[in-house]
Amino acid sequence: MTKPQIWIASVLVLFFLLFLLEKNTQRSDVQLKNIPGMNTGTDQSSKAKTPDQLVASFGCTGCHGGNLAGTRMAPDLHNLKQNWSRDELINYLRNPSSYIDSERFKNFKAMYPGVIMPSFSNIDIKELGKIADYLLQLQK
Ligand code: HEC
Repeated sequence: MTKPQIWIASVLVLFFLLFLLEKNTQRSDVQLKNIPGMNTGTDQSSKAKTPDQLVASFGCTGCHGGNLAGTRMAPDLHNLKQNWSRDELINYLRNPSSYIDSERFKNFKAMYPGVIMPSFSNIDIKELGKIADYLLQLQK
């Protein structure tokens, strides 16, 4: 073989090795996705969540407490039925700031200064419905 031929041959071998390497890494990606219980961020995994898991995964428990019974940062979420219909509650979760004018919410503002109930308009409406159903049946 002449020198240029040797060069071409080694470049081809290099490409072939890279090709094999890529195939191998792709296969390991696929295996990773199949590990049961691993959260790969696909829609399916979040749809399978129970309402209390949803509530925890959206951070509600971070402010309202592990059992949603209230903390120094946010009110108790039991007995919401007294104040909310299902639709109103879903609306509230999507846009809490539009309710701040009522007496109850003025009290909340004084009780939890500096803490703002976040808007959850980015959550799928079906999941908000599940959360609302779950919250409305919490009784004390
Ligand atoms: C950053 C803290 C924080 C997070 C996170 C949070 N909240 Fe709140 N939430 C509050 C505060 C504070 C209030 C009191 C109202 C206000 O100040 O706007 C409130 C009020 C509420 C109310 C009205 C209670 C009532 O008596 O009418 C509901 C319902 C509620 N939150 C549900 C949720 C749900 C469901 C989630 C999760 C999807 C959540 N919150 C996440 C802080 C939080």
